Amino acid sequence: MTDDGDRHRQSRLVTDDDGEFDADRARDESLPVEDGEVIDTDELADHQRYVEGRGIYDERNRVNDLTGKEWKFATKSVIAESYPPDVQHDLRSEHGGQKPPRLCADLIGRFSKAGDTVLDPFAGVGGTLLGASFCEHEHSGLREAIGFERTERWIEVYEETLERENEERLARGEPPLAEQDVRHGDCAELIADVPADSVDLLLTDVPYWHMDELEQTRNERATRESKLGSFDANDGSDGTADSDAGSEAATETDAGDADVAATPSKADWLADMAEKFDRFSEALAPDGHVVVFIGDMYRERSYEFLSADLARAIESTAPLSLVANLIWYDPTKDLHVYGYPFSFVPSMVHQNVLVFRPEDPA
Ligand SMILES: C[S@@+](CC[C@H](N)C(=O)[O-])C[C@H]1O[C@@H](n2cnc3c(N)ncnc32)[C@H](O)[C@@H]1O
Repeated sequence: MTDDGDRHRQSRLVTDDDGEFDADRARDESLPVEDGEVIDTDELADHQRYVEGRGIYDERNRVNDLTGKEWKFATKSVIAESYPPDVQHDLRSEHGGQKPPRLCADLIGRFSKAGDTVLDPFAGVGGTLLGASFCEHEHSGLREAIGFERTERWIEVYEETLERENEERLARGEPPLAEQDVRHGDCAELIADVPADSVDLLLTDVPYWHMDELEQTRNERATRESKLGSFDANDGSDGTADSDAGSEAATETDAGDADVAATPSKADWLADMAEKFDRFSEALAPDGHVVVFIGDMYRERSYEFLSADLARAIESTAPLSLVANLIWYDPTKDLHVYGYPFSFVPSMVHQNVLVFRPEDPA
């Protein structure tokens, strides 16, 4: 910054007697504050607009509707939120791999703008679809969402969730959640009906790589037997076993995906996912993003770095570049002692959220 710039910056600070930023005085003077600095709205550039209580919005923002201050917060690489069970959780938990709709709404808010189109090719019971609808009331505006799901039951659960949730919202005097477009079938086929460059955000939670069913049953039994309790003094008192995060322990398999035997090896699963994302990317707008939930696994005494494997597989096949690996960490999740006292086994209290965008044209 130049000397002039420094002087200009100093002149806009509201400080107390010790030279520290004085937030109370700034508020008294009713001046907008961005990151501890009082903003003189007369001095905003033409492309900047002050949004009451939120900070400065830059009209050139092509990624989202966040102000500078909100954008900065949204770039945090760890999302440390528990998202307690809500939105007809009892109904949705029949799936077993469902994601919290409000976590999806937060991600949609980071990677899209009001009116954008969001696609979830593995929609399950509709975490992304519900999240897109929440954006109308809790973020900058509605996103149109399209979901593909090959298991009819999960579509029924989504529809029932929306119906019940809207009955309750109306009874509380709140506006209903918009119904999104959910299509039944195989995403590899349904993607052909989505026009090129029409999707601004692809947000999804991939069907997991599965062990074969025999091994799965054995591991689930071993897992149950090894749940010796928590090291945490709060053992038994937290609500996470019932939360969306708790329902998808990364050491276990995705109960929501009926097609357990279809992807027998990890290499096949990775190749299948990479090929599908290559197809999906044709529908992605040039400024769009692809955001993928994927939990790592601990299996047969070794850590399966599925997030890294999936990121590399997608990057090497689809014209997408990995730009971030966000960690969704649920601080309220219970800890289980799998290997104690003989071997270290991680308690998986996080999931990875891979963020890609289209490769820069050569
Ligand atoms: C991890 S779950 C998604 C859960 C979702 N995020 C939610 O909140 O409910 C993956 C879903 O993809 C579906 N699925 C797997 N392969 C598919 C395919 N080829 N086409 C469409 N859906 C598929 C499974 O039935 C499963 O419901």
